[in-house]
Amino acid sequence: MKIGIIGAGKIGATTAQLFVKAGHAVAISNSRGPESLQEIVKKLGDNAIALSKNDAAAFGEIVLLATPWSKTEALPDPQLVKDKIVIDAMNPYKPGGGLYKLSNSTSSEETARKLPGAIIVKAFNTKNFKHLELGGRKDLPLQERKAIFMAGDSIEAKAKISRLIEEIGFAAVDTGNLHDGGELQQPGTKIYNNDITCAEARGLLGK
Ligand SMILES: NC(=O)c1ccc[n+]([C@@H]2O[C@H](COP(=O)([O-])OP(=O)(O)OC[C@H]3O[C@@H](n4cnc5c(N)ncnc54)[C@H](OP(=O)(O)O)[C@@H]3O)[C@@H](O)[C@H]2O)c1
Repeated sequence: MKIGIIGAGKIGATTAQLFVKAGHAVAISNSRGPESLQEIVKKLGDNAIALSKNDAAAFGEIVLLATPWSKTEALPDPQLVKDKIVIDAMNPYKPGGGLYKLSNSTSSEETARKLPGAIIVKAFNTKNFKHLELGGRKDLPLQERKAIFMAGDSIEAKAKISRLIEEIGFAAVDTGNLHDGGELQQPGTKIYNNDITCAEARGLLGK
């Protein structure tokens, strides 16, 4: 699969490494341009390239957003992700710290509004990048693997992201639709930054 990643920091670079290792082709991007990513691309190997934000979005069959949520200018041109699965790994932190108050909405619903036509799956946002980098265990049965939570309105998209999560050694735990599941996955909830197994996660969520 071709995966375009916007953001090449802690989460963007870590997911890139895991996806490449699982056999996918990855394009990464940042705000400073492909030249600034040569070193990281070299480390990632032949299945990775550095592109501009919009070229990475065009490249990906799936696109992962790993930029600060407050920087809306980091989002791709909506036309480039229309009808594509877009994984929203972002959290609504303010630049100086603290969280935006979103009333009855969630950060990924706000992302969905800005990318009309994209199929948004909120995933990877609850997982600290170090736990992500080191926690994958393909040798374990799913129930014993560490959980990666996902929320979204498309069952088909979540099935695809679930397979991707399994390929990198974790187990996907579906928290529900983009609104309800998205609320469960926001910072400060019991599953946020909680490095638990799939079985523990199901127990915690009563699923
Ligand atoms: N850190 C974690 O463990 C973790 C875990 C789960 C979710 N998250 C979420 O993931 C997101 C990224 O966090 P992070 O810790 O990976 O941040 P980070 O290390 O600071 O990386 C942010 C990345 O976003 C890029 N970026 C900023 N503005 C951009 C723009 N206009 N166009 C393209 N790229 C742009 C930056 O590129 P430049 O360096 O070139 O500006 C950088 O590569 C946040 O929303 C965070 O809440 C983080």
